[in-house]
Amino acid sequence: LSASLTVDPAFRVGPVRRRTFGSFVEHLGRCVYSGIHDPGHPTADADGFRGDVVELTKELGISSVRYPGGNFVSGYRWEDGIGPRDQRPSRLDLAWHSTEPNLVGVDEFMRWTALSGTEPMMAVNLGTRGVQEALDLLEYCNVRSGTYWSDLRRANGAPQPYDVRMWCLGNEMDGPWQIGHKTAHEYGRLAAETARAMRMVDPGLELVACGSSSSAMPTFGEWERIVLDETYEHVDYISAHAYYAEEDGDLGSFLASAVDMDHFVSSVAAAADGVRAHKKLAKRIHISFDEWNVWYQKRAESRPPTGHDWPVAPVLLEDRYNVADAVVVGNLLISLLRNTDRVHAASLAQLVNVIAPMMTEPGGRLWRQTTFHPFAQASQLAVGEVLQVAVEAPTYETARFGDVPLLDAVATWDEPAGALTVFVVNRSTDGDVRLDVDLRALPGLRLVEATTLSNPDHTWVASPDDDVSVAPRPNASVAVADGRLGGTLPPVSWSVLRLA
Ligand code: AHR
Repeated sequence: LSASLTVDPAFRVGPVRRRTFGSFVEHLGRCVYSGIHDPGHPTADADGFRGDVVELTKELGISSVRYPGGNFVSGYRWEDGIGPRDQRPSRLDLAWHSTEPNLVGVDEFMRWTALSGTEPMMAVNLGTRGVQEALDLLEYCNVRSGTYWSDLRRANGAPQPYDVRMWCLGNEMDGPWQIGHKTAHEYGRLAAETARAMRMVDPGLELVACGSSSSAMPTFGEWERIVLDETYEHVDYISAHAYYAEEDGDLGSFLASAVDMDHFVSSVAAAADGVRAHKKLAKRIHISFDEWNVWYQKRAESRPPTGHDWPVAPVLLEDRYNVADAVVVGNLLISLLRNTDRVHAASLAQLVNVIAPMMTEPGGRLWRQTTFHPFAQASQLAVGEVLQVAVEAPTYETARFGDVPLLDAVATWDEPAGALTVFVVNRSTDGDVRLDVDLRALPGLRLVEATTLSNPDHTWVASPDDDVSVAPRPNASVAVADGRLGGTLPPVSWSVLRLA
């Protein structure tokens, strides 16, 4: 089988945005407790934050981090997490049927973002709470001094405001599982009023209204239309959440998950532009894809405890990712980049232990999952302008998406440095694809490096003893001559081709 790509700097979509490489830390399972926070760990600092997790967060290239949820935020009282730790209450977390000890709260999280060099992205509770509590948290975080909440922050050890720019107005309010779930009209009104009041404190905030929890929601599309009808003038983004999994052994459909992500983005953009036309406004609403990943929701590890069992930091959503999962994560990054004109922020859900690219042992080892690698490469190597790539490839039939091209690709062009990077996946489950890339529009480029992540067994998973066997390796088949790049891409693979 053979396929060709054409790369031309004329096909610019928009800039590579650092916020595309965001992640998410929720008070869920072991993401916070024994994830980022583990006071007994040898690398822990005075706050109890693991230094090794901070280092791997940097290696992963995480830009922004959404916090503190997720479903958790819809029952959260943020004031429980400030002040002396020994006086903080423990609370039932209804979202994950757990006990929240409140040892980490907003002040600790802000210190963690400073340590990890990441930008905080805060979510407010619009499930059990409303406008006033969102304003209180905003005052605590962003007002310099001289008011009740800002002075309390100072008393709690933070003389400077945190100046959080991006705020999520609730979480997945379209979902019947959400505490305080609302209709689109109810949520749209509350989000609009919360946004209006928050902007009275700071007109420059970037505000995200809740969009759909997946493209399969019965209200998908209509939810966005109604919510934006209420909030359009007051917000900047509408959120999108999408999780994918191989179901019933249908690897072909799973490998084509990015088709759904593309469809999600174009549908939400159409809904937003419809409201824009109706309101006769110039402003455009962008998408914050603030939860995306592979997630095996049907597995037992995804089910919260029940009955009288309300554990602290239980093992929850600890998916172990294989090579095919990594290829899908790479393909979803291709989709996010390709849609950079509309997707202005994104968060890989989540950062550690919970459906995460890295895993910890409490007090012990830290290791990379297979999905770590495509994310780290894309975050590091996608620089400059995103280029649409023309793909000519054989198609294969999928149960979920019909005929889908075997290859998917995107490129980034760093004009000042003269550096081109092509990200490409081979979705074939059984065959190599011979690749031919037409680079004639960028004469003189030479190959810097070609790497491929693949394995003869695509079900291979990493472990604390071996998290490098499927790290991307040099692809010796790739060569450049006369304005064309040629090479071979193995089945179920993710490749990065760098030229300069
Ligand atoms: O990321 C796990 C959960 O998925 C989040 O809490 C929720 O927002 C989504 O349903």
